[in-house]
This record gives sequence, structure tokens and C-alpha cells, in this order.
Amino acid sequence: MKKAIIVGASSGIGREVACRLIRDGWQVGLMARREQPLVSLREMADDRVDYALCDVTMPDAPDRLLALIDRLGGVDLYFHAAGIGSQNLDLESQIEMNTVNTNAVGFCRLVNVAFQYMKTHGGGHIAIISSIAGVKGLAPAPSYSATKAFQNTYIQALEQLAYSQRLPIRFTDIRPGFVDTALIAGSGFPMKMKSEVVARHIVRSIYRRRHVVVIDWRYRLLVFFWRLVPNCLWRHLPLGHRY
Ligand SMILES: NC(=O)c1ccc[n+]([C@@H]2O[C@H](COP(=O)([O-])OP(=O)(O)OC[C@H]3O[C@@H](n4cnc5c(N)ncnc54)[C@H](OP(=O)(O)O)[C@@H]3O)[C@@H](O)[C@H]2O)c1
Repeated sequence: MKKAIIVGASSGIGREVACRLIRDGWQVGLMARREQPLVSLREMADDRVDYALCDVTMPDAPDRLLALIDRLGGVDLYFHAAGIGSQNLDLESQIEMNTVNTNAVGFCRLVNVAFQYMKTHGGGHIAIISSIAGVKGLAPAPSYSATKAFQNTYIQALEQLAYSQRLPIRFTDIRPGFVDTALIAGSGFPMKMKSEVVARHIVRSIYRRRHVVVIDWRYRLLVFFWRLVPNCLWRHLPLGHRY
């Protein structure tokens, strides 16, 4: 039986991916700060699902992850969905710091543990949800777009590290566009995708061992054009106005 750890399994995309893996027969370890959603997921298959509370911004998070891996008896797939994000046109310092602590420091803390574990236990697969927001700096969400770029670059670096050290660790960097979850609740963003549909894309990409995945095709097109815009034009786009 394949074993997966999902960090950020209590809601949104992480929860949907957890449901899919449980239905596919995986043995699954769930992590997040809120307990009740994890308890209800465990009820889907309590002989195959375990959970541990964990705040990725806290220094004890690595020990909690390792203890859960131990209880599972190993890990084949580490899936990192935990993340926060909000618009911050006033550049409130606390929002920026919280986002960096969760999406960059906390992310690095736990992905690092998964890498070290797989390095010494025969390999595995590390998959993460970053975002299309990492492609360019975005005025309405400076720390969010910057931390997503951090995640993209970090995974790219680990992939090179694993390859050069001949480690059997695979990586998948998943970059969705807008998904209708609590993270963007109340916003009027266009082209929102359902989390169930995004989770189906994600699990298929993991099974196919894809390296970088932009979900869906409309956002692949958008990202293609974003990349073509030179900085001298990008800096003049009026994305930071209040409308
Ligand atoms: N929704 C979108 O439009 C969108 C687009 C692209 C990428 N993404 C990315 O997808 C990922 C999942 O987001 P979502 O849209 O599914 O939002 P969500 O429903 O708010 O889920 C976020 C998950 O992260 C967990 N989390 C947040 N802070 C945490 C912390 N300090 N420690 C441990 N877990 C923490 C939450 O659990 P607890 O609160 O229980 O801890 C929850 O399970 C994020 O990385 C997000 O940036 C989202």
C-alpha cells in the first residue's frame, strides 16, 4: 500500500487531494492546525488514515512530521498544500510577515524534512502546490507572489540536487490559477476553478510524474503571455489601483 503525507489537508485543495488518495486506496497521514476537519477525513477509512496537528510556522513541526511518518511506517509521497494568501494593497507588515513565515519559512522547514527523510530511506516523491502567482511580482499581493516564486525556485533547486546526488526523489510543482476555496473567499476573481476538478488534475499529474504543472489550459495561456511582458512594461500595469 502506498503511503502519503498531506500537509494542509484540512480544507480546500489539500482536502480534495486527500479524499482522492484515500479513495484510491492510499495509506494517508494528514496534517494541519485544525483538528475537526482531519477527524472527519479519517472517518473515510480509519484503518488507513492517521493525522497529526501541525503549524508549519512552529519549530516543532519537523518532529510532528517525522512522528507521523513513523506511525505510517514510511512515506512514498509528501504533498505540501499548506499556505496562506491575501491581497495587501496597504502593505500591512503583519500580513507580509505571516505570509513569509507560512509560505516560505514553514514550507522550507517541512519540505526539507521530507527531502532528508527520502534521501536516507530509499527515495520518494515530493509534490507541492505553489501558484501561477510565482511567475511575476503582483502588486496586490507582494509577499504571496514572492513566496510562490520562492517555492518554484526551491523545488527546482532540490530537483537538481537530487539528480546530481543520484537520489531517487521525484518532484512535482503544481501551479494552479484561481481555485474556489477559503483562500480567495469573497473575492470577485474571474475563471475560478472547482477544487475537486483541480485535485483530479493534481493526482493525475502526480501519477504521471510531471515536473511542473499549470492548471488549467486557460492559465497556461495566461502565464505564457505574462512571461512575454518585459519588466519595463510590467511595472506600469495598473494592478495596484483601488477600483
Ligand atoms: N485558492 C486559490 O486560488 C489558489 C491558487 C493557487 C495556489 N493556491 C495554493 O494552494 C494551497 C492550498 O490553498 P487553498 O486554496 O486550498 O486554501 P485553504 O482552503 O485556505 O487551505 C489552506 C490549507 O493550508 C493549511 N495551513 C495554512 N496555514 C498553515 C499553517 N501555519 N500550518 C499548517 N497548515 C496551514 C490550512 O489548514 P489549517 O488552517 O487547519 O492549519 C488549510 O488546510 C496554498 O498553498 C495556496 O497558496 C491556491
